[in-house]
Amino acid sequence: MLELRGIRSGYGDVTILKDVDLTVEAEIFAVLGANGAGKSTLMRTIARLLAVEAGDLRFRGEDVTAVAPNRLAEMGISLVPQEANIFPNLTVRENLSLGTMFGTRSSRSRIDEVFDLFPDIAARADQKAGSLSGGESQMVAFGRALAQEPRLMLLDEPTTGLSPKYVNLLLEKVRQIHDSHGVAILLAEQNAVKALEVASRVLVLSLGKVYLDSPVSETDLEAIQGGYHI
Ligand SMILES: Nc1ncnc2c1ncn2[C@@H]1O[C@H](COP(=O)(O)OP(=O)(O)OP(=O)(O)O)[C@@H](O)[C@H]1O
Ligand SMILES: [Mg+2]
Repeated sequence: MLELRGIRSGYGDVTILKDVDLTVEAEIFAVLGANGAGKSTLMRTIARLLAVEAGDLRFRGEDVTAVAPNRLAEMGISLVPQEANIFPNLTVRENLSLGTMFGTRSSRSRIDEVFDLFPDIAARADQKAGSLSGGESQMVAFGRALAQEPRLMLLDEPTTGLSPKYVNLLLEKVRQIHDSHGVAILLAEQNAVKALEVASRVLVLSLGKVYLDSPVSETDLEAIQGGYHI
């Protein structure tokens, strides 16, 4: 599905990601690591919002190292950024319709599908997204990304700041999106325990480098936590 080889990227003169290799199949793939480890930088690099300084990025066998972000969205990669992931002055429905610019099925059927998955926001379809709770606005951000008919969703810490009830609900939806829509998921998380409950593979970033990359079944929390102490 997605393949990164020797990826280096960062901001201006500052290199953050160093020689990152990663292969995502049709699975839920967790990206863990301490604050500042480079998880969001990785997400932005894959979404082509940051220039690739070195290395190759392939999506479904195609070299996408230099394609424009909107072309990547059209090809099937959707990003839910960590911050500022909704348009607060637009309604819930308007936010979702922004996700239906590309794709084949009607905008309406895709928005209905999002409302089926997230009944909480269906009841607030005409409310300004800026007036929603944290959990509800995260559902809108998810919903917009899902309305793009993605083959791969990049979720950047979707559960941060949410109550335990919403954390569980959102991760259950992640699993559902993967299982019923066949969407591959790259999930950056602070909450390692929760991420490992849904993911089949895990990668730990430490200071911009891959510290560990393993099937979840072949590693444990202790090994993962090693990546937080260097
Ligand atoms: N716009 C930017 N300009 C310069 N440096 C940046 C920028 N954004 C992030 N960085 C730096 O890049 C490094 C990695 O940050 P990044 O946001 O990718 O970490 P993260 O793993 O997502 O952390 P968190 O868990 O806190 O979200 C940090 O040292 C950060 O200060
Ligand atoms: Mg981040």
